[in-house]
Amino acid sequence: MVGLGMIFDDTYRPLFEKLHKDGMYRRDFGFVDVELTAVASRTGKRAEKYKKESHGRIADFKSFAGGDAVRQLIDCGVDVVCIATPDDRHFEPARLALSSGKHVLIEKPSVLSLQQLDELTELARQKGVLAKIVYHKLLDPDHKKLRTHVVEGVLQHVNNGYCTLLEPKQISGEQFAEWITGRNPGTYVACHYIKLIDYTFGPNWKLSRITATGQRGIVGKADGPTWDSTQLQMVYTYDDGREAAFDIHTSWVTPNNFPGYVEQEVQFRFDNGVWSAQQRKRGVEMTVEGRSPGEFKITPNHHYNASFIEPWNERSTRGYGIETIARFFEEVAYVEFGGPADEREKRLEEMRGLAYNDVTSDRNCVATVQALEAILAHHAKGQPACVVEVNGEEGGLVLRAPGKAEPVVLYEGKV
Ligand SMILES: NC(=O)c1ccc[n+]([C@@H]2O[C@H](COP(=O)([O-])OP(=O)(O)OC[C@H]3O[C@@H](n4cnc5c(N)ncnc54)[C@H](O)[C@@H]3O)[C@@H](O)[C@H]2O)c1
Repeated sequence: MVGLGMIFDDTYRPLFEKLHKDGMYRRDFGFVDVELTAVASRTGKRAEKYKKESHGRIADFKSFAGGDAVRQLIDCGVDVVCIATPDDRHFEPARLALSSGKHVLIEKPSVLSLQQLDELTELARQKGVLAKIVYHKLLDPDHKKLRTHVVEGVLQHVNNGYCTLLEPKQISGEQFAEWITGRNPGTYVACHYIKLIDYTFGPNWKLSRITATGQRGIVGKADGPTWDSTQLQMVYTYDDGREAAFDIHTSWVTPNNFPGYVEQEVQFRFDNGVWSAQQRKRGVEMTVEGRSPGEFKITPNHHYNASFIEPWNERSTRGYGIETIARFFEEVAYVEFGGPADEREKRLEEMRGLAYNDVTSDRNCVATVQALEAILAHHAKGQPACVVEVNGEEGGLVLRAPGKAEPVVLYEGKV
């Protein structure tokens, strides 16, 4: 495990504790032991704290900290590496792990450029391992049903839509304070919706262009490189020439006492229907004097991850945020143990073919994130309102600034 922050605590930790207790079983790959054997982080403090607190719930693990931590972790004999470092620090540990022949799972957004994605994709191919990304929103039951309706033709031909995800100030001001300079909330969370749209409504269309803007002045200076909120638009073109456009709004400066803590809403409009969803309003509303909002959310989402006492009195932490990581370990186990050794390559290709999480299917998402980062960087340097065109005559990702004749080629190859 590389990175022991918020997301480790929410999803990886409960999964590793469950796997330590129960292992993993499926008829095709049999019983497989999965243990957290080593962690790498910046300072090692959270690892030490976890070691003390987790006594008995997890096997003893090695903890590496500092500049060479990832190398040491890889060399200590792990089989799989999970990466949950800040979003601009995914590439290097992923590259190191894949070059050493380890299966890799990366938190979203996978990497920040197609050049980096190409390198990881090629390394995974050369070394015969899986490189996958955590997009847990695809496992949200509501999103699974949306896709089911699309695949079965109930909802036909999406034309446009909006998505919004607003995080509290506590995220930008405290949780991410160490690495927030120069970052934006779009790369961090819009990628959830970029993937949801790309995966759910594709693949019979092509990503055509990306625009974006944003606001500054709360997390950093009004003319600096750190963004409070962003508004991204991506446009796809269907094979018959019709277009579809999606707006994704994100923020990490919503008041901390906002009832749901994280606000998430989507609407998609089809030729024959409309789908609207509000994540906070799935049904539960709770107030506890002096404790909500804060310790308890007023409109909690118990589907993502929540701790329960099961009806049979066992304590558990479950939800789709954890399911998606568990599923990755099943995919690795299937490749390694799901049949005869001489058919491993076939199983590997089968798992690579899963477009919901494989690096080979992340091209449109990474292209959109790369475009967003470039548009915001130009904006911060005094050149707002740039547009990025996809797969045009000059290259795969081409940025055009108003009033400038010369385009900037961000990525030459085909997206
Ligand atoms: N799946 C989700 O919905 C979801 C939710 C939150 C975060 N995330 C993703 O998880 C990643 C981490 O987010 P977080 O909220 O846990 O962040 P965080 O700031 O809470 O934790 C980051 C961790 O990375 C470690 N780290 C930083 N630089 C490192 C380096 N160079 N080498 C090794 N370790 C290093 C830190 O020590 C810390 O343990 C981000 O990519 C984020 O987008 C995903």
